[in-house]
Amino acid sequence: MKYRKLGRTGIEVSEIGFGGWGIGGGWGPKDDESAFLALKRAIDLGVNFFDTALVYGDGHSEKLIGKAVRKIRENVVIATKVPPKTYRWPVLLNEPISETFPSEWIIRCTEKSLKNLGTDYVDVQQLHAWTDQYTGEKDWQEAAVYLKEQGMIKAFGVSANDWDPYGPVNLIKSGKIDTVQVIYNIFEQRPAERLLPAALDKNVGIIVRVPFEEGLLTGKIDENYKFAEGDWRSEWLTPSRIREATRRIKELERFLNEDAPTLAILALKFCLSHPAVSTVIPGMRKALHVEENCKASDGKLLSEDTLVELKEHAFVHGWEYPWSQK
Ligand SMILES: NC(=O)c1ccc[n+]([C@@H]2O[C@H](COP(=O)([O-])OP(=O)(O)OC[C@H]3O[C@@H](n4cnc5c(N)ncnc54)[C@H](OP(=O)(O)O)[C@@H]3O)[C@@H](O)[C@H]2O)c1
Repeated sequence: MKYRKLGRTGIEVSEIGFGGWGIGGGWGPKDDESAFLALKRAIDLGVNFFDTALVYGDGHSEKLIGKAVRKIRENVVIATKVPPKTYRWPVLLNEPISETFPSEWIIRCTEKSLKNLGTDYVDVQQLHAWTDQYTGEKDWQEAAVYLKEQGMIKAFGVSANDWDPYGPVNLIKSGKIDTVQVIYNIFEQRPAERLLPAALDKNVGIIVRVPFEEGLLTGKIDENYKFAEGDWRSEWLTPSRIREATRRIKELERFLNEDAPTLAILALKFCLSHPAVSTVIPGMRKALHVEENCKASDGKLLSEDTLVELKEHAFVHGWEYPWSQK
């Protein structure tokens, strides 16, 4: 496993981090035993960055991660998230911050997360949604200062709304934020236009999420794929969407070679090949997936030529999540 600096925080993070949504719930039947094995395998393979959120399984993901890292707490980096007080995603331009992220809410949620995680600090606290109009607002900035002063957090970041590659650009340029989490993958390449260059310029840590476009870019979902009962994706990935994605993913197979032997590794290497990226956090519930994904951190990034060719495979699909508010 290779490590990078999380922007100006100076914290060393593993190139492959652990995406902790799936182990919390909402992706079919929960299997804590398998989740725990995946977490343990990740730790053994050098993963030191764990991304979770207060809402993932209503604290369940935080509890599992807290339990897995208890004996090595000082050696790992935990990032969690404060939900908007409305519990509605994404946050919209016309929603005042007093209704979504007032200071006392951010502080109260952080206290709950610390309890779930069984720790007295989180390394990175993030707002679980973001809209550009909040850049100048005091609420979140005061909460961030307070939490840092109290030693409850080390760094403060935001998680961009889904497929919103421009929302946090002004925030990054303002110099007020330590980290930004954003969707960036072979389909969604728009962060490379403005967000990632701004982050490099301001030394803001970039956490890349959804590297597989919710599993699609691993090539393991096709029209015959049976989603487990309770997997939210069964509503999102309609047969016509899967058909469209499968056709495009087939075209990626010609990029497979010794350094990128599987589509999953190709997808992760694509993310790691941008110099602004600190860590990539695939969602993982199985030790086998952990093993495959960790192989992507071997120092052999994609060549400039490959990256130029992959630009042709970008796909801005505009498929909103089932729960997205208009
Ligand atoms: N708003 C936000 O802040 C936000 C939103 C979304 C996600 N996130 C964070 O980002 C993380 C990653 O996103 P995500 O989990 O939604 O999507 P993702 O990482 O693009 O895809 C996860 C899916 O990929 C599958 N997978 C992982 N490794 C694989 C492999 N080697 N081969 C085949 N399949 C593999 C997983 O399988 P299994 O189902 O079998 O585990 C899961 O179904 C989340 O866990 C969460 O921490 C944050």
